[in-house]
Amino acid sequence: MILNSVVILGASGYGGGELLRWLSTHPAVGSIRGTARALAGKPFWAAHPNLNGIVDGCFEEDILWSDFTGVDQPIVFAALPHGELAQRLPELEAAWARAGIQDRLLLVDLSGDFRLKDPQVFAKAYGGTHPCPEHLSRFVYGLPEWNRAQLPGARRIASPGCFATALQLALLPLKGLNIGWMAVAAATGSSGSGASPALGTHHPLRFADFKAYKVLNHQHLAEVEAGMAAMGIQGRLAFVPQSAPMVRGIFCSLQFPLPQMPNGGLDQAGLLARAKDVFRDAPLVRLVADSPRVGAVAGSAFADVSVAARDGSGVVLAAIDNLGKGMASQAVQSMNLALGLPETLGLKIPGRYPG
Ligand SMILES: NC(=O)c1ccc[n+]([C@@H]2O[C@H](COP(=O)([O-])OP(=O)(O)OC[C@H]3O[C@@H](n4cnc5c(N)ncnc54)[C@H](OP(=O)(O)O)[C@@H]3O)[C@@H](O)[C@H]2O)c1
Repeated sequence: MILNSVVILGASGYGGGELLRWLSTHPAVGSIRGTARALAGKPFWAAHPNLNGIVDGCFEEDILWSDFTGVDQPIVFAALPHGELAQRLPELEAAWARAGIQDRLLLVDLSGDFRLKDPQVFAKAYGGTHPCPEHLSRFVYGLPEWNRAQLPGARRIASPGCFATALQLALLPLKGLNIGWMAVAAATGSSGSGASPALGTHHPLRFADFKAYKVLNHQHLAEVEAGMAAMGIQGRLAFVPQSAPMVRGIFCSLQFPLPQMPNGGLDQAGLLARAKDVFRDAPLVRLVADSPRVGAVAGSAFADVSVAARDGSGVVLAAIDNLGKGMASQAVQSMNLALGLPETLGLKIPGRYPG
């Protein structure tokens, strides 16, 4: 087995901790280094106590990239706040070129910085000009259930957001259909807001509450709409994000009028057949009979999906762990595919049940 050397930029955050968790037991990963400013010099377990005794190493303020000149396969995961990698990428690419690793280095970005191909769409979604639009076209979108074929050999990957992952998995059974209008309500857990507490997202204020936010105006809708266009789905999507009293998880409920098909209206059997077909080769998507459950996927790399159709209405439900299939484990899944490793290597572990 090839041993690969990993660097995590932003390793002290929730995404960084989750990457450390998945990568520390991954059979193809040799060494792991991670950056953070506030905890520089402190052991990884200072931020992630669950990793005490599992992962050695300390947070570093910065990385000397010449350390990787002799490394066959350097891998960088960026788990930085929105906008940070886009600001720093030109400087990083130059440093990687000086170290002689630029072409073989695999970069997987977990932020929204490189998910949209069109700088104008980016500016509209995120409210600012992209700092390095010339790099946008180099990134492959890392949603294996949709574009698995584009990932082998990729060296720059933009990993989808947690809402965007759940919504696009729910949309996939509708590939190629003209739906007209769809409504999606998706609830997220508090870890979706990262490790720094803020008034609107702080767990003590959320745990006994349930509310919608950024109604019809979430910045990740642009990413989902780009996915819909690529999947050939025609229709408008009304997206209502919700803040749920849980730590991990996204629960997404997509509702739509059942479209007419050449041989009659789409029914339960037809919708289920579409879901089975689109996820036939997706080892980390489980089609379930009743409602997916956040409790069944939390801590795992799986997405659970179910479908229902009756009296002209169709529903696709999807549940993921926002830090797993919505973030870190999905980034590792894309890494596996990019490096020609088995897609589920290091990822087929059960979550905890009950939580
Ligand atoms: N949380 C989720 O469910 C989720 C899901 C999918 C995608 N994402 C995306 O993944 C990224 C990371 O999210 P997260 O939840 O892990 O965030 P987080 O918990 O806030 O962690 C951010 C990390 O970046 C470091 N950092 C912060 N500001 C920095 C700066 N200016 N320069 C360098 N390092 C900086 C932080 O440590 P220091 O400040 O000490 O350096 C920390 O290690 C975000 O872009 C987010 O949108 C998050």
